Amino acid sequence: MAQDALKALGQALPEGAIVIGADIPASIAADWSTAEPVMPMALIRPRITAEVATALAICDALGVPVTAQGGRTGLAGGAVPAENGVAMSFERMAAIEEIDPLAGVAVVQAGVPLASVQASAREYGLMFGVDLGSRDSCTIGGNLATNAGGTRVLRYGMMRENVLGLEAVLADGTVISSMNRLLKNNAGYDLKQMFIGTEGTLGVITRAVLRLQPAPAASASALCGFRNADAMLGFLMRARSRLGQALSAFEAMWPSFYSHMTGALPELRRPFDAPHGLYVLIEAAGAADEAIEERLHALLSEALETGEITDAVIASSERDRADLWALRESVAHFGRVLGPVIAFDIGVPIAAMGAFVARVEAEIAEGWPGIIAMSYGHIGDSNLHLVCHLPGAGADQPHEAVSDLVYRRVVEVGGSVSAEHGIGTLKRKALALSRSPAELALMARMKRALDPNGTLNPGKVVTA
Ligand code: LAC
Ligand code: ZN
Repeated sequence: MAQDALKALGQALPEGAIVIGADIPASIAADWSTAEPVMPMALIRPRITAEVATALAICDALGVPVTAQGGRTGLAGGAVPAENGVAMSFERMAAIEEIDPLAGVAVVQAGVPLASVQASAREYGLMFGVDLGSRDSCTIGGNLATNAGGTRVLRYGMMRENVLGLEAVLADGTVISSMNRLLKNNAGYDLKQMFIGTEGTLGVITRAVLRLQPAPAASASALCGFRNADAMLGFLMRARSRLGQALSAFEAMWPSFYSHMTGALPELRRPFDAPHGLYVLIEAAGAADEAIEERLHALLSEALETGEITDAVIASSERDRADLWALRESVAHFGRVLGPVIAFDIGVPIAAMGAFVARVEAEIAEGWPGIIAMSYGHIGDSNLHLVCHLPGAGADQPHEAVSDLVYRRVVEVGGSVSAEHGIGTLKRKALALSRSPAELALMARMKRALDPNGTLNPGKVVTA
């Protein structure tokens, strides 16, 4: 079977489009998560949508699983290939086909890195609203397939809110070109939604029409220190009312995160002399006449006066700004600082956030003496990240037991087991905690209807 498939693919695809055996780079086997790497039997590197369609039709007919990959920066195992399957890379479909400044859209191929879209939009005085730490490595196709979030969701939404149309290929090779450019289009079902956030299990995204925004001419950032979560939440409400749409980031770091990362990475600048109960990186952005800096200053003075904020440091240069963001983006160094981690990406109602973190950090510390448990997240979006590492346990981290504890508390507060990273393989067991049997059954029905042979990224998200 495998040999038949390789032969058929080799015959149907142009030279260079299929790589097999030892020529497949080892990196193809893994993503950035802790999911076990799996080497595929072949790597397909299409140049055009028709080649994606040809490859899928062959694999579907011969029972070979296909896992579409973006930059493999996912944290749930969604891009890890299937045993005896094929991985599909979009490295040769990475063009920005068009930027239309009047319509405010970018037409791109799936393999283009997020950072390239951001840079091209800037050349036109525009911006792409989605931003995340892996911007240089992740791709638009992967961002769409996982409905990626990041640090500007409270202002611009997730990927779903930043795409107008897309092109995808179904399991049997049918190309669905739904490259809508209109902001309003209610002509029938919004088919693109089937492919956004479904992690390559219902179709393979090949191209997209992205929505661009006017680039803010001015922005200002500050790091704030708080006594506790209540003070921070009071400040969040004040920031929303004073800054409105100009509030573009509100990233919280608990002392568990801030102290550990600044301690472990001496290159990080420590803006405060004294420790605080909680830290928030706040950013405001807007048009030149919106007095962004003045408004952020006014907000901070007001909050210092009321005692909501204990201390604040405002970035006065691009360098300062980069230093503040380096604190938050030090998450890229977890591997180096901690080694293997147990990582959570959970939704927690904002009002419950403070008590949730205090309780869960305490319970974890009690259950696993010496464990490192760090909390941070996109608090304006009800999205908490909790990252744990038990020193001395090596690769044998207590994943299951810590997850049971954390998810029990997530369910109690009406949260979600995945706020932005998706389900992949790592969160599959937890999915039923966040979704009803009827919802899960509908997901399975969609999977069966669109992928009856189980070709597309099997084992991820749902079982049909
Ligand atoms: C972050 C990634 C892990 O927010 O989602 O740092
Ligand atoms: Zn995040």
